[in-house]
Amino acid sequence: MQVIKYVFQPHGDERGQLVSLEEFNDIPFQIKRVYFMYDTTKNTVRGKHAHKNLQQILVCIHGSCKILLDNGREKKVVPLEKPYEGLYVANDMWREMFDFSSDAVLLVFASEVYDESDYIRDYDEFLKFVGEKNK
Ligand code: TYD
Repeated sequence: MQVIKYVFQPHGDERGQLVSLEEFNDIPFQIKRVYFMYDTTKNTVRGKHAHKNLQQILVCIHGSCKILLDNGREKKVVPLEKPYEGLYVANDMWREMFDFSSDAVLLVFASEVYDESDYIRDYDEFLKFVGEKNK
């Protein structure tokens, strides 16, 4: 499985760091929605779904967390612990977010507005969607 992790360019000087992200340049799609998670409670696992169309870039802009990516054949755990790193998550990837530090802020850039009908929340349905069921 190919994990696509972007390393963004921080503009650092004696005042500190600044990261700027533009759609189509740094983010490989039109950004239709931004959301973020914080105050995540201990041992919480978020996500546990895939999407029919939605693409995302995940950036842990403070603290750290881990992302499980699962394409139906293979699983990988990707740590996110730098504010200048972005993980690309394709639509057809089952994802789980876990191991949040208490100060973690996970920022998400999304290619679509919120649409519950785009979610695949059932793992068997996900396996069918990616063609890995009954092989
Ligand atoms: P949920 O899908 O459970 O989050 P996660 O995938 O991270 O576990 O979303 C939590 C709640 O927030 C749920 O009631 C739906 C709502 N929500 C929105 O209204 N807009 C959004 O863009 C997102 C991602 C969630």
